[in-house]
This record gives sequence, structure tokens and C-alpha cells, in this order.
Amino acid sequence: MNINKTTRVVVIGTGFVGSSYSFALLNQGITDEMVLLDLNKEKAEGDAMDLNHGMPFGSPMRIWAGEYSDCKDADIVVITAGANQGPGETRLDLIEKNAKIFKHIVGEVMKSGFNGVFLIATNPVDILSYATWKYSGLPMERVIGSGTILDTARFRFLLGKYFNIDSRSVHAYIMGEHGDTELPVWSHANIGGRPILTYFEEHKEGRKIEDLDEIFINVRDAAYHIIERKGATHYAIAMGLLRLTRAILRNENSVLTVSTLLQGEYGLDDIYIGVPAIVNSNGIREVLELNLSEEEKQKLHHSAKVLKEAMGPIQ
Ligand code: 2OP
Repeated sequence: MNINKTTRVVVIGTGFVGSSYSFALLNQGITDEMVLLDLNKEKAEGDAMDLNHGMPFGSPMRIWAGEYSDCKDADIVVITAGANQGPGETRLDLIEKNAKIFKHIVGEVMKSGFNGVFLIATNPVDILSYATWKYSGLPMERVIGSGTILDTARFRFLLGKYFNIDSRSVHAYIMGEHGDTELPVWSHANIGGRPILTYFEEHKEGRKIEDLDEIFINVRDAAYHIIERKGATHYAIAMGLLRLTRAILRNENSVLTVSTLLQGEYGLDDIYIGVPAIVNSNGIREVLELNLSEEEKQKLHHSAKVLKEAMGPIQ
């Protein structure tokens, strides 16, 4: 990437996730321009005004409520638009409504001449990322779903809290569907390189192995717990999207658990699903294929099967 080029991020959908993300983007100052688009134009305009008024406290940036034509020069188009889960609804319940919305949005973005990276956050994120790849005609590496980036963060946070270790020193992934069939990759989880199960054995006092299962269940069900309490989740996913934005704009080659197209990796094909992958300015540089245990492999295949079955409205 040419570092002298003006960088532009377009945010489509200024609901809870989109506005939390744009606030985070302004605070971190990692792009020169930010364009907000929403079906409710006044909401996007209000957000742009509000964010602009914070500029003297942050870094200079151009922010405006725009049009689809603004996507032409964008490095990244982030889609957070769509219906979100109500209490008791699963992510897969949203597919029909959101697939229709996506067909329209992706069509409009592509009409502008957009040639950057799509970042998808709307649920069900794996299926909508696949849909964006299909609808856009872009190479797979330039359509990235937030996948299990947030679940992985939740996992690392809860494990860090449990062992009293900085969550940034806990290396552990959640893979699979961003949803009910996701799986914890215990076989590769470690604390600063020490396998987590070994570390657990060495620090067993007052702890029991079932605690680890409970941690995973709390990760898997976190969105339900938050939605029950406040109706939506948005801060942590916004930070996850920001992490991805930085990896792309700064060509970081970071390993992040994202939803990407598998083409034979893990014995899976033609499906977007959460796996660790290397992310840089071109999007997905490569999928990292971990040596999963048999049980983990089976769970990943089960997750993929559930996603494929739910994909009807897309194909
Ligand atoms: C989350 O996991 C709802 O997918 C959203 O927070």
C-alpha cells in the first residue's frame, strides 16, 4: 500500500455496531477519511456531526454522511447494516431478512467501482460474508467476515480472568460458525507458550476442569446474556472490527480469527467460516491450517454442515 495515499473507510449501517465502530475509528485516528451511510440518512448525518465535534480532542480526519458513490475510492467498506437479534433469536434466524438487504447494498457498492476490501459484521456473519463474496464478484481474499474474532476475544478475556493473566498473553482461538456451533481450540490454547491444560494442572488449587467447559459455554452464549440485559452487543465487536481495519490499512499481516472462504483447508470447501488467517492490505493473505484434534475437526465439520444447511436463501 502506498502510504502517501489518502485512506478512506466507508461504514454502512450506523446502528449500535456502526456508530460504536466509527467512534473507535475516530479515537484511534487510523484513517484519513470516514464516510457514514445509513438507510436513515438523518441518523448518518447526526452521527457525522457529533463525531466531527469531537475532532479537536482527537486526530484530524474528514468525516461526512455520504452516498454509495463514495465507496469508489474506499480502502475498506464495513457493513454493519441489517436486522439484529432480538431476545431469544439465534443469529441464523436473521438470514432471510439480511440476505435481501445485502443483495441491495453490495450491488450499490459495486456500482460505484469499489475495488477495496469488504469487512462484514452483520449476522449471520459467515453466511452474509459468503453472500457478499458471491454478490460482489471480488476475489475471496477481499471479502472478510468478522467471524470468531469477537468470540476469540471473549475466550481470551475469560481465560485471562480465570488464571489472572493479561488476556493479551492468553493465546486461544474459537473457530467455526460465529454462533451456536462454534468450538474452542483447546489443543492449541496456551499461556505465553505453555499449553493451557498443562498450566491448569500446575495451578489446580481451587480450580476444577469443568470450569474450563463453563468458560467456553459463557463465550458461546455471551451475546444472549448481553442481549437479555441491554438489547444489543456493540462495543467489543466494534473494537474487533477496528483491529481488522488496522491490520488492513497498515498492512500488518496479523493472525486473526475471521470468516473466510475455505478451499480445501480443514477438509472443507466453498464455505465462509471462522478460522485463523493472516490479514494484510490485500485482505486475506492466507488461511492458517492448524493441526486440530480429531474431536475439534469433527466439531468444525459439524459447524460447517449447519452453516451450509442454513445457506439456502443465498444460493
Ligand atoms: C455478538 O456475538 C450478536 O454476534 C453478536 O455479540
